[in-house]
Amino acid sequence: MTHPAMRRGRFITLEGVDGAGKSTHLAWLVEQLRRYGLDVVQTREPGGTPLAEKLRELLLTESMRLDTETLLMFAARCEHVRTVIEPALAEGKWVVCDRFTDATYAYQGGGRGLPRERIAILEQWVHGDLQPDMTWLFDVPLSVSRERLGRSRALDRFERENDAFFERTRAAYHARAQADPARFRIVDTTRPMAQVREDLLAQLDDYVRSWHRS
Ligand code: TMP
Repeated sequence: MTHPAMRRGRFITLEGVDGAGKSTHLAWLVEQLRRYGLDVVQTREPGGTPLAEKLRELLLTESMRLDTETLLMFAARCEHVRTVIEPALAEGKWVVCDRFTDATYAYQGGGRGLPRERIAILEQWVHGDLQPDMTWLFDVPLSVSRERLGRSRALDRFERENDAFFERTRAAYHARAQADPARFRIVDTTRPMAQVREDLLAQLDDYVRSWHRS
């Protein structure tokens, strides 16, 4: 008896500047997806494998040159894509990843000023054929994200950056979203949580239904 080819899963990413509310909704979104009977892998970047988590620790704590930081982000990503993301998608699982290469364009590119061509070379090398199918960009004005961060635990190396850095990072996210409106959904998280979740749920429902139809 022949089996129909396994249908590839979907790759969903969550993005936004620190303090935009991404983490508040991540586990909840994964739970909602599972209600559709989907097999979902929740993961994050930098990280997602034992080695990549070690690189994360270095990236969040050690000061280093911008080139080194970018190369380490992609080294972690390489491990993660090859050993977690690609195999899961090939097995028909859905992958929900807390940040991916849009974050490198936003933080290392927008925030720190690394030319985007450099990032594009590494992107092509590490995951030339893999792009997120859908990306939620959690978005708030700087004043709100700073206020939220101020209330949280001890800040890491990125979260301690100044306001201008976050403005540039946010602008770079917006530019990416504008360049690819079919992939991005911008979520205004200044609104009350219930309203944000209502929107997320509607978008999710649309997305899963269109996948079933395709
Ligand atoms: P997190 O706090 O959302 O887990 O992300 C860790 C930090 O790493 C966050 O401040 C953004 C930063 N980051 C980059 O600068 N470039 C990247 O490519 C990724 C994935 C994260």
